[in-house]
Amino acid sequence: MIRINENYTKLAASYLFADIARRVNAYTAAHPDRPVIRLGIGDVTEPLPAACVEALHAATDEMAQRATFKGYGPEQGYAFLRELVAQRDYADRGCAIGPDEVFVSDGSKCDSGNIQEIFATDIRLAIPDPVYPVYVDTNVMAGRTGACVDGRYEGILYLESTAANSYVPAVPQAPADLVYLCFPNNPTGAVATRQQLAAWVDYAKRNRAVLLFDSAYESYIRDPAIPHSIYEIEGARDVAIEFRSFSKTAGFTGTRCAYTVVPKTVVAWDREGRPHPLYALWNRRHTTKFNGVSYPIQRAAAAVYTKEGRIQTRALTDFYLGNAELIRSAMGRLGFPCVGGDNAPYIWVNIGRDSWEFFDLLLERAQVVCTPGAGFGKCGEGHIRISAFNSRANVEQALERIAAALK
Ligand SMILES: Cc1ncc(COP(=O)(O)O)c(C=O)c1O
Repeated sequence: MIRINENYTKLAASYLFADIARRVNAYTAAHPDRPVIRLGIGDVTEPLPAACVEALHAATDEMAQRATFKGYGPEQGYAFLRELVAQRDYADRGCAIGPDEVFVSDGSKCDSGNIQEIFATDIRLAIPDPVYPVYVDTNVMAGRTGACVDGRYEGILYLESTAANSYVPAVPQAPADLVYLCFPNNPTGAVATRQQLAAWVDYAKRNRAVLLFDSAYESYIRDPAIPHSIYEIEGARDVAIEFRSFSKTAGFTGTRCAYTVVPKTVVAWDREGRPHPLYALWNRRHTTKFNGVSYPIQRAAAAVYTKEGRIQTRALTDFYLGNAELIRSAMGRLGFPCVGGDNAPYIWVNIGRDSWEFFDLLLERAQVVCTPGAGFGKCGEGHIRISAFNSRANVEQALERIAAALK
């Protein structure tokens, strides 16, 4: 008799955004005359930068000619992209990362979800609350947790991000082996200072732990004092893996390109206490289970690093940050304390009441979709996330509707 992986039955509810979509679809089916504005799911709305589109067209033309056609590429990504990443995203910021330590992929969702495969099942996990749900769910699926009791899985050390710690969790007293960190944070938009990140690197060294640093929103950082990469912290090369994505930097959510950095110096141990470079394990996993991002898409990603690409992607992130500023000040005027939106495309609004109830209220009275904070973890209760990814006209209209609905 074929049996299922019963860990899947431990998953608390359907995926957050599927839940939201179900409620929004039910509402629009019942009220087809009331168009909703979506500031919920973190998907971009603006078209690809012209430099990327041009590169995509040119690479597609190459694929149409026998002489320049490309079949399978290197699973880890073409050298032209890995070299640009190593130079521009790391060397230029003083971080020593080699091109061969960069693994190009079709998304940070897959990478941050798949990375747990290379670790033992009985390790101790530390995961922020609230945070991008993929980290928790993929570990539940892999059997690293117990049951979900009162909104929390047994076996996870939750790193609580609340108003009391300005939504940046401090290093815990308790030890953990694998620590997920996400800065700028989804959903809170909070960023970590150099000092806070240094405390995590120190924690990892003391506990022989590994940090998984998700910086998918790095390109939204505007405060010059905030590190863009964990590798800006001394010693991080020995303890940290970093995830980056072109999704929010250059509008690649539908195009799909990201990368993961696994320095050759990061190790984890086997049962006998022998160290193993995680680079070798991830390389094995990646080359066995992944066949590379398509050539035209990698060329489009490489165009982000051209002079025009830099200017255009900066204009894109500036545009969304302009939306974020409008959202944050409008919600502030309505009396809600907010964080985020200044170095991240998300505004975390402290609504002080049930977040799904507030979600329904905004949907029904303002036809605006936000994301209920409870979907990101227990500490997300009492908050909503508003995303800055939309047109200026839609953001302005949504804010007018919210103000009218909450009068
Ligand atoms: C923190 C975080 N990491 C990763 C991702 C996924 O990025 P990608 O589109 O590269 O899969 C997201 C997307 O919303 C995210 O919020």
